[in-house]
Amino acid sequence: MLKIGDLTLRSNVLLAPLAGISDSSFRLLCRQFGASFTFVEMINARAISHKNKKTKKMLETDPMDTPIGIQLLGAEVSHILPAMDVISSYHFDLLDFNAACPVRKVCRRNEGAALLKDVPRLKTILSAMAKNWKKPVTVKIRSGWNADSRNAADVARAAQDAGIRAIFIHGRDRQQFYKGQVDYAAIAAVKKSVDIPVIASGDIWSALHAKKMFDETGCDGILVARGCLGNPWIFRQIEGYFSSGRIAPPPETEEILSVMQQHLEMMVTEHGEKNAVALMRKFVGWYLKGRRFVRSVRQRVNETKDRQGFLELIAHVRELAR
Ligand SMILES: Cc1cc2nc3c(=O)[nH]c(=O)nc-3n(C[C@H](O)[C@H](O)[C@H](O)COP(=O)(O)O)c2cc1C
Repeated sequence: MLKIGDLTLRSNVLLAPLAGISDSSFRLLCRQFGASFTFVEMINARAISHKNKKTKKMLETDPMDTPIGIQLLGAEVSHILPAMDVISSYHFDLLDFNAACPVRKVCRRNEGAALLKDVPRLKTILSAMAKNWKKPVTVKIRSGWNADSRNAADVARAAQDAGIRAIFIHGRDRQQFYKGQVDYAAIAAVKKSVDIPVIASGDIWSALHAKKMFDETGCDGILVARGCLGNPWIFRQIEGYFSSGRIAPPPETEEILSVMQQHLEMMVTEHGEKNAVALMRKFVGWYLKGRRFVRSVRQRVNETKDRQGFLELIAHVRELAR
């Protein structure tokens, strides 16, 4: 169990915010295997409006997909408050602010991880958000901007002072992007510096990685990110490990194929057949990672145009795996 402000989560293993990945289908699939919380895809405060159809599609969520959060990106209170006004017409249990995105284009506009270099500005934004939102407001940070400025503990303290109810921290600095060692000590320092929950992220690829994160940092919860791509079973594995001490064996090929098919059908309902097939392509490589035939399947999946073709591909993989 994990408490963030007045929000209580069933477990402390959450699906990380994943732009470009976390559509409704993916979120529901991860929930099915035990994710206790999900985020809709990050939204730039400047890009959101009451009238925008795309905004509406992103913000409308399935009643089964709860509790759920939304993450805003921005650098100006004057953009963020109107965006919050738009969001307030939809159902979200938590509002997160992104001070972690490493993308160059984003940081050049002083958004995302660039805000780690300007703590007073970040604090002003977070105070405005916390003051104007009834449910919990949180922030996602990194260990710092680069190896010479790993200031996450200071940032976390400023966020707590601003009225933030939990800290999400990816234990890499901005310069590392998604590579290199996770700085467990930086996360532990954040945990020591605040009284609010600290939810840690970085290299959670298995139940043992999850245990390492809890053991080394004392964090209150974890975010699963790349570790669940093509592997929603990781949530079940982590929960099983913490309750029984045993590591569940990886799923059988048949279960993988049946979840792949379920994922496809959910995507078809959400995005329409043509888009679903295109979006599923990247997932196939993830679902079949490490198999001897993955390369040939990947080639074939790129030629697959419709749902029927995809089902034939799944039947083909079943034959290859025999
Ligand atoms: C494809 C992708 C999209 C991501 N999108 C977001 C995002 O929108 N907001 C965010 O705060 N972090 C985002 N992240 C970062 C993850 O939430 C997570 O902190 C990071 O991947 C580290 O965890 P990992 O090493 O277990 O993957 C993204 C990561 C990936 C790989």
